[in-house]
Formats: sequence, structure tokens, C-alpha cells
Amino acid sequence: MSTLIAPPQSMIPVARPYIGVEEEQAVLDVLRSGWVTQGPRVIEFERQFAAYVGCEHAVAVSSCTTALQLALLVLGIGSGDDVICPSLSFIATANAIVHTGATPVFGDIDLATYNLDADEIGKLVSPRTKAILVVHQVGLPANMDAIMEVAARYDLPVIEDAACAIGATYNGAHIGNLGNLTCFSFHPRKILTTGEGGMITTNDPALAERLRRLRQHAMSLSDVTRHNATSISTETYDEVGFNFRMTDMQAAIGVIQLARLDTFLQRRRHLAERYTASLRMLPWLVTPATPAESNPNYQSYMVRLLPPVAAQRDHLMQYLLDRSISTRRSIMAIHRELPYRSDSNDAALPRTNLATETGLILPLFHQMTEADQDYIIETIQHFTL
Ligand SMILES: Cc1ncc(COP(=O)(O)O)c(C=O)c1O
Repeated sequence: MSTLIAPPQSMIPVARPYIGVEEEQAVLDVLRSGWVTQGPRVIEFERQFAAYVGCEHAVAVSSCTTALQLALLVLGIGSGDDVICPSLSFIATANAIVHTGATPVFGDIDLATYNLDADEIGKLVSPRTKAILVVHQVGLPANMDAIMEVAARYDLPVIEDAACAIGATYNGAHIGNLGNLTCFSFHPRKILTTGEGGMITTNDPALAERLRRLRQHAMSLSDVTRHNATSISTETYDEVGFNFRMTDMQAAIGVIQLARLDTFLQRRRHLAERYTASLRMLPWLVTPATPAESNPNYQSYMVRLLPPVAAQRDHLMQYLLDRSISTRRSIMAIHRELPYRSDSNDAALPRTNLATETGLILPLFHQMTEADQDYIIETIQHFTL
């Protein structure tokens, strides 16, 4: 069936970062300043990020993957330990655990939110369990009240993988304050981008201080401190650290993007609401949930397909691609990838399996026009098997 609205001139991508002339100028300024790696702009970005999230400390790093790895390390997680996390996530969530020497133990999700089901955690806790790594998938906060309650019951620290969740709120407060440590991503697929980059937030000054050292080879003095020193100062290296630094070029972009964030969020929420208002009428599709305590940021707009369309997801994706609309399959299930594959995991994670098999991510980005969105909606409405 043909649609009423004319197709766009070019392919509508699933996502596209918004980068303006201000970001270009900010990078140029850094290049001309002579200080290109971690320096004053990183400090500025960290201060502004902590203020935005409403927490005491923010530590910038090279990615969310390295943020997660450091967060686990400073909590003492290592060889022989188990960390409970969802399998319905990008593989970096589990890889960060493995990089510390620990083992990810996958819990099933709540199908309404695509996030770790708090009731699953108690079933998985053992003497080896040392932490819970919760993910706020596609920018919808997990049920943190229930998760923090289980964590307190078993005296386990909580790390939040908020790779997708900048600006999302839970009980009225920005994500970044609920667990012991929260990790963010600034990959271009996220709402705020620095090209690559990550941030760890915490209200624990000792953890923040250790994170700052570990990200730069465990050096006791930062480059900025040494540069500004008026007397001779010599650094020490008291443990084995990493080079997980963010550059000042990235941080300069981050400062500009952070100032744009509320505008980004407003636009995304508006477009998401437009999708939901039209698509929820379709009997074969489930639109994203918005639990009362959460205000998602819609890092992605993910729907779930119901029978009979569910089994024909690839067919629907090809139909949309043929009409210049790019989509992506659902969030992956980590336990189905080779390093993590096991029959017992597959049997224990039915809701994760269903979500990964039937989810579909639709285009959503700041510059997307309402005309393009109307075309997408109408094209989906005209889909027949
Ligand atoms: C849930 C989740 N965790 C971790 C990551 C890794 O982030 P980064 O690419 O910044 O390392 C991603 C990236 O897509 C993600 O979606």
C-alpha cells in the first residue's frame, strides 16, 4: 500500500549526533591553547557535569566501558567474584566485569521496562556475589527503589550503568546519585557526545580520589597540579593504574553539549510522545513504558513487536529500509554471544530472549523533522504481512 506522505530525499538514519559550530570553535580553542590531553577543560566539564547530575564528584574517563571497569575496581571487585547484571545490554556491561577478573551473573529483565528485575537478584545472590551492576536501558531508569532495597538486604554495592541515561530522572532527581557509582557514555549514539568518552559520578570522596589516580597510571599528582606548582613537586605511583584519560578536546565538546542537554531532552521527549500517541493504536506493537517515578530521556525509542509481526521483524526492517527508514534490532542479549553463551543462561532468561528477538529501535534524533516522523509513522501503519 502506498503512503500519503512523500518519502524523504535521503535515508532517515536511526540516530545522528547534533554538533554545532560552537563545538567546532571549542575544539579549535583547545588546539590553539597547546593543552590537548586531560587538563583544565576536563576539570571544567567534570564540575559542570557533577552540578547537572546533582552529585559531589564526577571523574571523566575515555569511555563508559573504562568507567565501569574502574568503578568495579575501586569497589574491590576482582578474580573469584560474581557481579549480578542484566544480559539485555550492550556487551560492554559484561566485558567490564570480565576485565576485572570477575564473572557476570545474568538476571532476567522486567519486560515492561527492559531493565533488571529486582526479584531476580535475590535468586542469584551467593557467597561469591560482590556487587549489582544495574543498567538503565535505552534511557529508562531501572526500578531503583526495589533494587536498592535488595542490595541493602544483602549488603551489596550498586553500580549504575547509565551509558544511555544522561538527563533521565527517577523520583524527580537526575540519574547519577542512587548507587555507589554511576557510569555514563558519550559515544555518538548517546544524547550527549564527545566522540568517545565516559564519566563516573559518586558522592564518596575517597572513591573519587582513587578513580582520578587510577585513570592516569595511579599518578599521585595530576598534570594540572604539576603545571601550576610553584615549587618542585615529584609524583609517585603507588599502584598499577591505567591510561583511561579523556582529552581536553573531548571535554571542550562536552561542556558545549551539556549546555544543550535540556534542549536535546525536550525535543526527544516531544518526538517520543508523538510516536507513542500514534503507534500505540497498532495491535501488534508495544510502545515504551513510562513508570510514574521515571522520566526517560529516550536515548532510543524501542518498541516490541507482538505476533504475528514479531516473527517477521527482519521483514518489517527491510520494508522500512526499502522506504528510506533505517532501524535497528532490539538491544542485544549478551548471553547469546560467543564469550558468554550457555544453554543454562538461555533457559533462565526467557524475558530477555523475548525482548531481544522482538524489539525494534526506530529513528530518533534532535534534528529529525516532524514531517519525517509522520512519514515513518504512516509507513509503519501501512505495513502488512
Ligand atoms: C548499556 C551500555 N553500557 C556500556 C556501553 C559502553 O559505552 P562506551 O562505548 O562509552 O564504552 C554502552 C554503549 O553502547 C551501553 O549501551
